[in-house]
Amino acid sequence: MTTTTTSSVIPTLPGRYYTDPDLFALEQKNIFEAMWFCAVRSSDLPKPGSFRTVQVGAESVLVTRARDGSARAFFNVCRHRGATLCTEESGEVKRAFQCPYHAWTYDLDGKLVAAPNLTKMADLDRVRYGLVKVHVREWLGYVWVCLADEPPSFERDVQGAVAERLGAVELIDNYDVANLEVGRRIVYDVKANWKLIVENFMECYHCATIHPELTEVLPEFADGYAAQYFVGHGAEFGAEVEGFTVDGSAGLDRIPGVSEEQDRRYYAITIKPQVFINLVPDHVILHRMFPLAVDRTVVECDWLYLPDVVASGKDLDKSVELFHRVNEQDFEACERCQPAMSSRTYRDGGVLVPSEHHIGAFHEWVQERIG
Ligand code: FES
Ligand code: FE
Repeated sequence: MTTTTTSSVIPTLPGRYYTDPDLFALEQKNIFEAMWFCAVRSSDLPKPGSFRTVQVGAESVLVTRARDGSARAFFNVCRHRGATLCTEESGEVKRAFQCPYHAWTYDLDGKLVAAPNLTKMADLDRVRYGLVKVHVREWLGYVWVCLADEPPSFERDVQGAVAERLGAVELIDNYDVANLEVGRRIVYDVKANWKLIVENFMECYHCATIHPELTEVLPEFADGYAAQYFVGHGAEFGAEVEGFTVDGSAGLDRIPGVSEEQDRRYYAITIKPQVFINLVPDHVILHRMFPLAVDRTVVECDWLYLPDVVASGKDLDKSVELFHRVNEQDFEACERCQPAMSSRTYRDGGVLVPSEHHIGAFHEWVQERIG
């Protein structure tokens, strides 16, 4: 007779995974430049010619809207001698992007349409020397881009992650995320490796220690077992709690499609590699991470509400303040870990307790991706 014992102690990744620029370069190439990346809120590109530039892995990407209203994305690199085409973070062009170096000009579809003395180069293929396209999808009111030549399945990797957590991808439709409006956006510049942020989001072992306001609203979080890894499990609001607000007072108007089952509950979804979604009855909080260096990650966080709520000018402060505090508490914890990653005592990493064991699967996934 054989007995199997599972160890209650699983090691974390060694410290160098959080400090080594060579490993970070591999992650940029094999993760962020290879997978679907949530880049821009669709409403940040209100009309043809609106644009934003974002860093995806090691590349700068220009995301814009074409004449027909669809989103487009290109490598932000001029095809002449390689100047960065757009240096602004956001803006609007009338009908074309012009390189500030020698004035090569590209239309909103990326085609080379003008350049000084171009008539003397009749054989130059204007499509071939147009901007290099990046794959694009619009979903949940965001523009997702993929820099791979052959993108992986969006249905499997992105929508599948939502289905895995909620039980079915359609259940997120109840929140009508695409048609909500950005009520507040806060950008956090976090001095920590992106994986520390993912790991933190995946567990609730820390909730009782660092999130006093959140555990008041979601009492089960005080036990340390995160809703993040139970399929279809939304953490229930405390009995006395009226809404998902910093003091548990009433929230805003409930999103009409939210079901009875989803009411008074909080759902958290991680879409690898850089998106976290939080669903509550009256709003949606969506985080996009932009890993800029091995020890620096910018996180753009949107609080999304019904358009009527935003238009009415209702006070969103108590609603926003709850997760803003959670973000600050989480990011402070990540920044507290980052310097210690290069300590000799963390050379072999630390340990995961049972309620964090699913983080071990994330570590294996990272290791597989970077080879
Ligand atoms: Fe852009 Fe020359 S590098 S026009
Ligand atoms: Fe947290």
